[in-house]
Amino acid sequence: MVTLMDGKAVSAAVKESVRLEVEQLKKQGVEACLAVIIVGSDPASRVYVNNKKKACELTGIRSEEYALPEETTEQELLTLIDRLNADKKVNGILCQLPLPKHIDENTVIERIDPKKDVDMFSCVNVGKMWVGDGVFLPCTPAGVMELLSYYHIDLCGKNCVVVGRSNIVGKPMACLLLEKNATVTVCHSRTKNLAEICRSADVIVAAVGKAKFITADMVKDGAVVVDVGINRNENGKLCGDVDFENVKEKASYITPVPGGCGPMTIAMLMKNTVSAVKLQNNQ
Ligand code: GUN
Repeated sequence: MVTLMDGKAVSAAVKESVRLEVEQLKKQGVEACLAVIIVGSDPASRVYVNNKKKACELTGIRSEEYALPEETTEQELLTLIDRLNADKKVNGILCQLPLPKHIDENTVIERIDPKKDVDMFSCVNVGKMWVGDGVFLPCTPAGVMELLSYYHIDLCGKNCVVVGRSNIVGKPMACLLLEKNATVTVCHSRTKNLAEICRSADVIVAAVGKAKFITADMVKDGAVVVDVGINRNENGKLCGDVDFENVKEKASYITPVPGGCGPMTIAMLMKNTVSAVKLQNNQ
């Protein structure tokens, strides 16, 4: 029988532990604050930002929203980031991606003070993670690790296949799995024999961005299947990268979409915000 990995329940537990920490910090006179920047009116980004604000409310973190119009210039955005970097009351700064095409995302990410970079996107923080000296967690991959840990899935020596090599998910996912002594293969659009490589996996993490990309014939009996994808199917329904209905017949553990990795990402963002508060207060 397959076990569904319940991201809603596990994220609620993570958020509750964050809430207690935030409460403790408040007793010491320290208020946690996350600044969230959104540029333009991408509907998916609006949903993500609203969910992040809700999680802040739940955990007692004060949130500040900066909703800027589509035509905001790169310089205007950088000026706002400079102001938030200098504001001692702001602990974390997050700029929702994607940004409008006329703004360079890397320039914006690198402008955020690494001590406030709760998305963990900056070169400094990514580098620190790879040498095992990170303060922050890459939110989505760390959410996956939290789920695997909650369900006592041991990774030591396991074959883990990450499908997708984005800077936000695939690459940092490989790093965290490696840290747990897994043998990690990262597959991508140019990978040869993808199905064969996936069939060798004890754990598959799918982060491709294509509905039903991981089919049952690519999955070994008893494999753990983690679906990071968020897509819309032909009926406009939210779905992941995994052909859930068929793959669940073979997997030992699987994440649903929605209700799997999505809520975990936001819970880890809350955790990073608390880490930022502690870092800035030398705790
Ligand atoms: N867009 C898609 N995922 C993310 C994320 O984790 N953080 C930010 N800032 N933007 C995103």
